[in-house]
Amino acid sequence: MKQRGVLIGCGFFANNHLNGWKSLPGAELVAVCDIDQEKAEQAAAQYGIPRVYTDAAVMLAEEKPDFVDIVTTVPSHRPLVELACRAGAKVVICQKPFAETQADGEAMVAAAEAAGAKLVIHENFRWQRSLIELKHRLDDGQIGTPHFARFQFRTHYDIYSKQPYLAQTERFLIFDVGLHLFDLVRHFMGEVAHLTCQTQSLNPIVRGEDSFTSLLRHTSGAVSVVDASYYTWHSPEIFPQTLARIEGDAGTLELLEGYRLRLHTPDGLEEFDVEPSVPSWGEKPWHGVQDSVARFQSHVLDILKGHAEPQPSGVDNLKTLALALAAYDSAQTGIGHDPIPLGSGPRVVIYSSVATDL
Ligand SMILES: NC(=O)c1ccc[n+]([C@@H]2O[C@H](COP(=O)([O-])OP(=O)(O)OC[C@H]3O[C@@H](n4cnc5c(N)ncnc54)[C@H](O)[C@@H]3O)[C@@H](O)[C@H]2O)c1
Repeated sequence: MKQRGVLIGCGFFANNHLNGWKSLPGAELVAVCDIDQEKAEQAAAQYGIPRVYTDAAVMLAEEKPDFVDIVTTVPSHRPLVELACRAGAKVVICQKPFAETQADGEAMVAAAEAAGAKLVIHENFRWQRSLIELKHRLDDGQIGTPHFARFQFRTHYDIYSKQPYLAQTERFLIFDVGLHLFDLVRHFMGEVAHLTCQTQSLNPIVRGEDSFTSLLRHTSGAVSVVDASYYTWHSPEIFPQTLARIEGDAGTLELLEGYRLRLHTPDGLEEFDVEPSVPSWGEKPWHGVQDSVARFQSHVLDILKGHAEPQPSGVDNLKTLALALAAYDSAQTGIGHDPIPLGSGPRVVIYSSVATDL
């Protein structure tokens, strides 16, 4: 029997979710909801979804879905996640940014725990084929023990025409692409012991930061650089590709533009093509993102069947959120941060400020 789902928020990015669910055997969307009725109706008509709602509470009470896919922007995440958990959904998916504050994130994690729901955050970058291949080679020991990493996302692509709210957002790039990169750096290099960050506001049409550079020290002793910019010319444009470099005591892995993965070892250089396939509903150059959404949704199906645990869970994503908040604080105050886990579990994280050695 198919898992029954509903989707909340029929805006720009929801098209990827809607296409993905439609193509996934084993799951079906039975209803969509948007406070803008026209958007909900258009999505239902385009993707063949039987019912339309403008009130998520009414939809959840009537549909009693197995899973809820929340694709709204961050201000509505906490009330919608809490609502979905109370409604008895087995799996609740929340788009990033999970939350804007640690308190909101912890409240959502608590709501899921109280309801026995699995909360999974839509961090699709770690589900991109190129990054899965990179992780596979790292875990396989092909470069030995890593001591340096760099994750990078730099572009001049006009994201503002389809997501105009981004240009108005006071906290922009770290909460947009930065969260994905912080999730990746934790996923590849482990937890972070110290972080500093500098931000820049370069494009005059943008209110918040559209460039940031962060330097991290991991608990393993490794260091990493995470940097992103929406004001970087590159020809040809490589949006939406993430580039990466990881150096270890036995070699170096590089993820280069054009989905080329390079392995440098004392024996020489090997290059692999790790370009994702284009989903039947997708097109280049968006296939890297589209393929990752499809892979993420297959993973959600595995969670629903009891075959997998959320990657990443809400609990895990609190630590990524903590890095983003620490990055903003570091950029504002000019000092670095040591994350200090508190309490018995990994959920509660605060930051103490420590002056960096300058
Ligand atoms: N993972 C990725 O790669 C990726 C890429 C782009 C956007 N996103 C994220 O996806 C989310 C949505 O972004 P978007 O660009 O599609 O935004 P959008 O503004 O185009 O769409 C959001 C939709 O949610 C609706 N909505 C808001 N509150 C609601 C509520 N309480 N109930 C029902 N509907 C409600 C709005 O009317 C709107 O149609 C954001 O959190 C964004 O960061 C993720």
